Amino acid sequence: MTVGIDAVEIRTGKLRLDLAETFAPAQGEDPGKYTKGLGLYASSFPDVYEDIVTMGANAAHRLMDRKGLEPRDIGRIDVATESAFDNSKPVSTYIAGCLEQVYDGDFHHANKGERKFACISGTQSLDDAYNWIRAGRNRGRAALVIATDTALYARDDSGEATQGAGAVAMLLAEDPDLVELSPEQGYGSADETDFLKPQQQFPSVDGKRSMQVYLARMREAIMDYESVLGPIHPEDYVLIPFHTPFPGMVRRAAALGYRHATRDTEVEEKLAAEIGRQPRREEFDSDEAYREAAGEYTDDLTESDRYQEWYSRCVEPTLSISRQVGNWYTGSVHVARIGGLKVALENGENLAGGRMLVCSYGSGAQAEVHAETIQAGWAEEIAALDIDDQLEDRYDLTFEEYEQVHDVHNHDSDIGVSDVEQFTQPDAEFVFDGWGRMGERKYTYVG
Ligand code: CAA
Repeated sequence: MTVGIDAVEIRTGKLRLDLAETFAPAQGEDPGKYTKGLGLYASSFPDVYEDIVTMGANAAHRLMDRKGLEPRDIGRIDVATESAFDNSKPVSTYIAGCLEQVYDGDFHHANKGERKFACISGTQSLDDAYNWIRAGRNRGRAALVIATDTALYARDDSGEATQGAGAVAMLLAEDPDLVELSPEQGYGSADETDFLKPQQQFPSVDGKRSMQVYLARMREAIMDYESVLGPIHPEDYVLIPFHTPFPGMVRRAAALGYRHATRDTEVEEKLAAEIGRQPRREEFDSDEAYREAAGEYTDDLTESDRYQEWYSRCVEPTLSISRQVGNWYTGSVHVARIGGLKVALENGENLAGGRMLVCSYGSGAQAEVHAETIQAGWAEEIAALDIDDQLEDRYDLTFEEYEQVHDVHNHDSDIGVSDVEQFTQPDAEFVFDGWGRMGERKYTYVG
């Protein structure tokens, strides 16, 4: 039995903050920090009537409509988020409630839940759904996995540069049209305090350390994966989507992964004439001296033609959407997968049968690596997305408007939804519609 992702939908927040033109000048910073350093051009934000439920429900609704599904076809709804507003009732119940407004039938016989482990919980939810189908507990039904986040940082936190908001809905099913998931996985996991939200909306983050932890856990996960399948070769994969808090992070992770995976291979030998062989720890008296030499080798490696050709073919395409939307936390690696496939489709490539190495990460911290095989129906699935239109239609915020939007979505702010005019008009979508008698958030479908 093949099990994997049958279809995807992506929903961006409807507002856009231009990082180079609008944010950088207001912060007194050089735009190059965003476009060249972090690799980001814009962030997506939710309009005042949008949140993690509306974005998730709107993505799931389009997916179900496009695939001709009814509630009875779905046996499971898993939501992954770092932005939940309810410590008991899962976001999946709110999303199911939305969808039941527009479909005949209900999701009363679907198992619902919510997963938490920072950004990696999107991939963990895929795993849960995959295992449920492989175990034969699905009764022929599919699973909806929705990764949805409003990734906001406190004003003037260093992370403010990498914000974003959006949702990815994925349908996990037998005989998938998009990708088959491999059963093999590698993990790198440790108790870390690099990024966390202890009973608070905005993260406490040690930005520079979080980057080191990302790289360390990713390296562990690759080594664990290799302990199952033997050495991996980066040039065996057509695309390598990484968790993308910002493209600059992926630039580092890809270089580290390539260096690790090509050590003691013919690639290292071929590159040796140009940049020498990789430094080995035993050749140095101290960790510091070794790290310095390894850093210099990595700089030379990333300048080499061979590496640059690999990077622009296998990694750069996965950043195409992320550069325009920022970090979507749980959805981020899934946006990278879609971005890579979308560029391949635009370039007329035939990827059917090709393999991707998907590298997920969540702070706190855990990395996971698995492979996916691209299926024959991939091009049709990706062609059905309307993400270009959504990106194009976003409302461009001024800096003052951005400040208002940040306040509206700040749970501790006195500024409420009713204090700020919406910037866009809802059109055939779920919207936030105020609070109910028990403090629950309420939603309506606007036709
Ligand atoms: N032209 C070109 N490049 C420039 C530049 C200019 N004018 N000005 C700065 N840069 C470069 C810098 O050299 C730097 O690049 P390198 O790291 O390659 O040297 C880059 O732009 C960023 O500049 P700074 O380091 O000065 O930026 P910063 O101090 O404001 O912080 C950050 C960057 C730590 C990533 C911060 O945005 C942050 O805290 N982000 C949130 C945490 C995060 O995303 N961590 C990633 C790993 S954790 C994770 O992945 C989980 C998750 O989703 C949160």
